[in-house]
Amino acid sequence: TSSPFALHQGVLHAEQVSLAKLARQHGTPLYVYSRHALRQAWQSFQDGAAGRDVLVCYGMKANSNLAVLNEFRQLGAGFDIVSGGELARALAVGADPARIVFSGVGKQVWEMQAALEAGVKCFNVESEDELRRLDEVAQGMGRQAPVSLRVNPDVDAHTHPYISTGLKENKFGVAIEDALRIYQHAATMDGIRIVGVDCHIGSQITEAAPYMDALGKLIDLIKALADHGIVLHHLDLGGGLGIRYTDETPLAPRILLDQVFQTLEKHALANLQLILEPGRSLTGNAGVLLTTVQYLKHSDARNFAIVDAAMNDLLRPTLYEAWHNVQPVQPRPMQDDTPRYDVVGPVCESGDWLARDRQLALEQGDLLAIMSAGAYGFTMSSHYNSRPRAAEVMVDGDRAHVVRPRENIQALFASEAMLPD
Ligand code: LLP
Repeated sequence: TSSPFALHQGVLHAEQVSLAKLARQHGTPLYVYSRHALRQAWQSFQDGAAGRDVLVCYGMKANSNLAVLNEFRQLGAGFDIVSGGELARALAVGADPARIVFSGVGKQVWEMQAALEAGVKCFNVESEDELRRLDEVAQGMGRQAPVSLRVNPDVDAHTHPYISTGLKENKFGVAIEDALRIYQHAATMDGIRIVGVDCHIGSQITEAAPYMDALGKLIDLIKALADHGIVLHHLDLGGGLGIRYTDETPLAPRILLDQVFQTLEKHALANLQLILEPGRSLTGNAGVLLTTVQYLKHSDARNFAIVDAAMNDLLRPTLYEAWHNVQPVQPRPMQDDTPRYDVVGPVCESGDWLARDRQLALEQGDLLAIMSAGAYGFTMSSHYNSRPRAAEVMVDGDRAHVVRPRENIQALFASEAMLPD
């Protein structure tokens, strides 16, 4: 297979670099990314676009390390940002603002100003209040803000409730029934220039059907807008393409895009630029979290492998009961009676687990790779329990680059202050 994470002579590697060696050099917990895997994932979107007018704006909340962003910038990606902080990261790697879309339900004035100053391609506006504020801010700067309304198409993405966003009860976007009226309102605002429409129906979606349901509803809206003299330049279907964590069959960009363009052509709308905002599908399987077994604890009820990574490093299992494959870096032979372990961290929470009930042949000191940790891994990490955040390494062929050193203990509280005596 072409998986960048594979066993060579009994040792799990990232491309040509041994993960055992990386752990020795840099310690654990350690995030390891594969540059080749990032490129492969990007290529599947390129292949999917097949020369059509598709702008892929990487949903950088999935993994916003500058090395990752810079790789995607070089490959020609735009960026989907959700905060002033993400804007600053994108600009730090030299991203072209004309390829940046700004999503998010709670944009603050300073964030709007910074994005207008930079000259982003589009603000994906999520409420009428936000639209009014953006109009004011833009006028105050003597500018016009390019705007798309995020509509909530009320479709079920068949994914985990915490990462499903396209249902009526979600906080995201404006109800599709209100969209025409809000667009008409927007059209009267001097600080607003209408350029598109967008939606994002959820994450880890593995079928095309929910996207096509959403597309159908957006097409009705686009036609209604045209009838009212409002002509759009682009259509943004958001991110959400799933990856394989265990046995999922991910939706290939090519399959989705072929269906989308077929439908657009049928409605004579193929002249619209199509934007996608994939995050997970570009980085999820390009990264692993390396961790070392500290202790093994056996009891009648359960066996625990206590490792040095925890929920502060990888929150997904705790937050969504997410399943990540656990692969020993130097696998030992397995027997029928090889125990099943809960792989847990040192944090003082019962919810602090990384994997449950996995048959693993383990000894103290063994290295484990928590797979598919390249998306929503480091970016969701915290300092909980005063644990410095893990280091990040990017492998490129037979070379490894530290792209973020391990945080040191002093830095944890260096900026804190005590009250005067
Ligand atoms: N665009 C918008 C407006 C979004 O809200 C998101 C993700 C994306 C794009 C990228 O979605 P993706 O292609 O990565 O599915 N922390 C969760 C996932 C949260 C997704 C939030 N929005 C997890 O670890 O599963």
